[in-house]
Amino acid sequence: MRLNKSKERIGKMFDEIAGRYDFLNHFFTANLDKRWRKKIIKQIEYFNFPYETVVDMASGTGDMMAALLKLGPKKAYSFDISEKMLDVQRVKIKDDRLKIQKADSENIPLEDNSVNILTVAFGVRNFENLEKSILEVKRVLKPKGTFIVLEMFSMEKRNIFFEFYFTRIMPLFGKLVSRSSYAYDYLHNSVMKFKTVKEFADLAEKNGFTLRKSENNFMKFVYTVYLEKK
Ligand SMILES: C[S@@+](CC[C@H](N)C(=O)[O-])C[C@H]1O[C@@H](n2cnc3c(N)ncnc32)[C@H](O)[C@@H]1O
Repeated sequence: MRLNKSKERIGKMFDEIAGRYDFLNHFFTANLDKRWRKKIIKQIEYFNFPYETVVDMASGTGDMMAALLKLGPKKAYSFDISEKMLDVQRVKIKDDRLKIQKADSENIPLEDNSVNILTVAFGVRNFENLEKSILEVKRVLKPKGTFIVLEMFSMEKRNIFFEFYFTRIMPLFGKLVSRSSYAYDYLHNSVMKFKTVKEFADLAEKNGFTLRKSENNFMKFVYTVYLEKK
């Protein structure tokens, strides 16, 4: 099955499941996703990364942005291609520092060299043009700016538990709750067909970033990757 990752298709899919996304997300990760986001904030503090201006790309319902705001940035931007996901975020987060706007990863409506930290949580796997998006992130980041990616990467070795959970349990339950016949089949396929964490880091390094740290959060398939703009 060839995956259709056109922005139109992906945006429509997330529009469809927006109302039930948070519940399913926390349920499927047994709330571990909250811990992974908190860990990112601790690492930003540990490494002393500047955070005056922060961006959360593919921000969806805003859990990553909610965590970033706790750092105390002066300006914050949430971008996503799904207006319905952003509508959920608009209800959840009320903050004068934050601008929530529909925009995609290939056309970030910000000036060159203007951002300290840009995060993407569970988003890069869905990008229609990954390399173009990486270059666009590089454009808006300040020199030495930080690009942080939390993602489910393709595993180097087969894992029976993972395959059973992803191919049987998640699509069945996901379909029942989200009422989308496609979204949770897509989830499984998009992970299996995505890059390994090493392949992703290599691609970022080829496009102007230095790998600072790659942290295995769960079973060597959920990683947080910390990259610095050269
Ligand atoms: C799995 S959700 C993750 C949402 C949120 N970051 C989180 O951690 O819960 C993926 C999000 O990526 C968005 N997305 C997919 N491709 C995109 C692109 N090219 N540019 C911006 N957003 C995109 C989708 O609309 C969706 O809201």
